[in-house]
Amino acid sequence: MATNWEEFYATNLPPTDFEDNRIILKEFCDRHYKLGNKIALITSGGTTVPLEHNTVRFVDNFSAGTRGSASAEYFLEHGYSVIFMHRLKSLEPFTRHFNGQKFMDMLDLQEKNGHTTITVKPDSVDVLAPVLARYKQTIENGMILYISFTSLADYLWLLRASCECLACFGRNAILYLAAAVSDFYIPPNEMATHKLQSEQPPNISLKLVPKMLSSVVNIWVPQAYVVSFKLETDENLLISKARQALVKYKHKLVIANMLQTRKQRVIFVTPEESFEINLTREQIHHGVEIEDSIVANVVERHSEMIQSTNSHKKK
Ligand code: PMT
Repeated sequence: MATNWEEFYATNLPPTDFEDNRIILKEFCDRHYKLGNKIALITSGGTTVPLEHNTVRFVDNFSAGTRGSASAEYFLEHGYSVIFMHRLKSLEPFTRHFNGQKFMDMLDLQEKNGHTTITVKPDSVDVLAPVLARYKQTIENGMILYISFTSLADYLWLLRASCECLACFGRNAILYLAAAVSDFYIPPNEMATHKLQSEQPPNISLKLVPKMLSSVVNIWVPQAYVVSFKLETDENLLISKARQALVKYKHKLVIANMLQTRKQRVIFVTPEESFEINLTREQIHHGVEIEDSIVANVVERHSEMIQSTNSHKKK
């Protein structure tokens, strides 16, 4: 049986920089609340599950943060303030376009009379300039807050703290839970203190992590528009699992995707309907990103929810 979420917080310590992050989150949310902005909390990347308190080894997952980092840029384009809660060293908005060697290959280095000059290669200016312009504008306007996590416990502490700060936004908040959060962990009282020794194969018993979606939707931010993701590797389970999640947690939308095709196909599952977004080969070839359509769709649904609430209030 999964332990409940209160027990999880009672037995798993917060990350060491938790209080600092809580203050930063609160300041960001207060400022954007006063400005009357809509806000999106985007979670992105995978969580680790430590095998030792003095962690040398951990269980991890595949998520690179592509979905979350791309989506963050599109939410910004739609005018949302964004809390980008991501796995440390996973992809981030803007820099994701020039990951790894790509960035170095865009630059030229000249040494003349003891002076060093670095310039962007002429054929890279058109690629770098629009992204840099959007990045600068976002930062100057203070529209994004980057918060990072590594382990499952870090993630869950930050998720709850973010929700506490977002509650005042009511229906103006979106939670877009794209992170691949571990479903299994070792409770602290069952975890080895020191590095596991290799004389014998370890006997590791993982326990179920309580599903936080339930607290998010029903307790922490009951008015927010909550979007969860459902990842499967067996197509036969995908839609039924997404529907089960909607029934169980009673939120607005599950975006279902298969591991292998997640960059070109997703299925929106709501209590009323389900439909697919597919990218064609040509679109992929031209650099179209599926997150563009996903976010446009989510934003439209969120606006409809806000409008319908406003019209109910007027009646
Ligand atoms: O990062 P990329 O490489 O681009 O990959 C993107 C993605 C495939 C990770 C993303 O599109 C995605 O599907 N994310 C959710 C993956 C996942 O954790 O699915 P799940 O079926 O295990 O969980 C479903 C939902 O429950 C998630 O929204 C999660 O936030 C939530 N959850 C999970 C575990 C937990 N203990 N509590 C939760 O509330």
